Amino acid sequence: MTAVGIDGIEIWTGKLSLDLPEEFAPVMDDDPEKYTKGLGLFKSSFPDAYEDIVTMGANAAHRLMERKGIDPKEVGRIDVATESAFDKSKPASTYIAGALEQVLDGVFTHANKGERKFACISGTQALNDAVNWIAAGRNRGRGAIVITTDTALYERGDPGEATQGAGAVAMYVNKDPSIVEISMEQGFGSVDETDFLKPNQQFPSVDGKRSMQVYLARMREALEDFESETGRSHPDDYRFIPFHTPFPNMVRKAAVLGYRHTIRDTELEDTLAEQIGRQPRSEEYDDREAFSEDIQEYMDALSETDMYREWYERAIKPTVDISSRVGNWYTSSVHLARLSALIHANRKGIDLAGETLLVGSYGSGAQAEIHEELVVEGWEDEIDGDAVDTLLNVRHPITFEEYERVHDQHNHSKEKVQEPFTEPDGEFVFDGWGPMNERQYTFIE
Ligand code: HMG
Repeated sequence: MTAVGIDGIEIWTGKLSLDLPEEFAPVMDDDPEKYTKGLGLFKSSFPDAYEDIVTMGANAAHRLMERKGIDPKEVGRIDVATESAFDKSKPASTYIAGALEQVLDGVFTHANKGERKFACISGTQALNDAVNWIAAGRNRGRGAIVITTDTALYERGDPGEATQGAGAVAMYVNKDPSIVEISMEQGFGSVDETDFLKPNQQFPSVDGKRSMQVYLARMREALEDFESETGRSHPDDYRFIPFHTPFPNMVRKAAVLGYRHTIRDTELEDTLAEQIGRQPRSEEYDDREAFSEDIQEYMDALSETDMYREWYERAIKPTVDISSRVGNWYTSSVHLARLSALIHANRKGIDLAGETLLVGSYGSGAQAEIHEELVVEGWEDEIDGDAVDTLLNVRHPITFEEYERVHDQHNHSKEKVQEPFTEPDGEFVFDGWGPMNERQYTFIE
């Protein structure tokens, strides 16, 4: 089987940042620790007045193409995943390709372009589409650019406001990749749900608490489906497990459930049995409620054990670092989780080549997908944590009052309510409306 996967990754963050414990919590009359400890979030990213899904996606893709020296001729496919689209017909990928053509030497006339929609999981679906296209041999030697880009804003006053974010990830997918090979085996959990949706509206209708239960249920189904195909899921087989991260503590909840599930009937369960007993088995219970209570008690005890904590520190915690500093980037979120883990490993000098990642993607509405990725030799040359830190550290901090105006600016109306806070520098910007109501873009040197 041809090895296909991710050859390069670049990100672009919305250029503004809001400090959640310092700026947001006091106005909400909340304890700052609700954000830092309860959700695991410190800052959110927001787009400046001249930024949107196209500028952020084009800027991430431009960085990627420049750094890797990718010629437009080599790119046979440009797919964008977003749930913040402003055009119901023309895909964001055409706007992004048009913007890139303003500055690159070459055009993307030959490239197949599209836009994927299924809440946050569409980023992974676009990645899988690119992998499948290459594995099927329809790529004529070309690679694919996959861009995930969102302005993840909630209605003012919605509890989801705490988890907002804005940014993009661009990935180059090709044969014999330099970072990870993506396995062809997948597990899915997919059910028609109405916990988070945007029926012809800019901000989502959200049942936040239920959305968390739906996330856990679909992720469990995807894991079971993956196990039924591969027969694998032992937690020690995976160096890192990047999950979709709407906020870091969602992952904390998923991790303990996943660990319990995957240690069942293994030597790890036997070892732990001396301290906390064996896991309750549903077949041993007539009473569902009693089973749920005992399972919860087991998980509470499990999460306090050294074995679990060590696994969490090793396999999960390094994946949520970027998320804690930027909030939810929707379609980009699981791709930031993978990147976080790779940056951590690079900084710690961890030899990852030959190690496997288990990647858990999720989108409301609702679907989870699980697949494995094999880290390849030389991966560390592609991962630059300092470049990511620089992007995040130069974000312009905004006050709560400024945040309110930024939020109004990004409600897809044409009215201009906010002057930019920052000066664009070597990047694409939104430059006003054209005669057919199209958004227009320029590159500012
Ligand atoms: P909330 O009701 O404002 O928060 O909304 P809360 O009161 O539940 O507090 C949050 C946590 O902080 C709780 O922890 C509190 O106990 C804790 P938990 O009990 O859950 O473990 N807490 C504190 N901890 C320490 N010190 C304190 C303190 N105070 C409270 N002083 C909610 C939270 C997540 C519901 C809200 O932010 C929301 O609606 N978010 C949007 C929906 C969402 O993110 N759902 C996640 C799963 S669905 C998903 O991931 C898909 C998504 O990305 C969309 C897509 O796919 O496109 C969203």
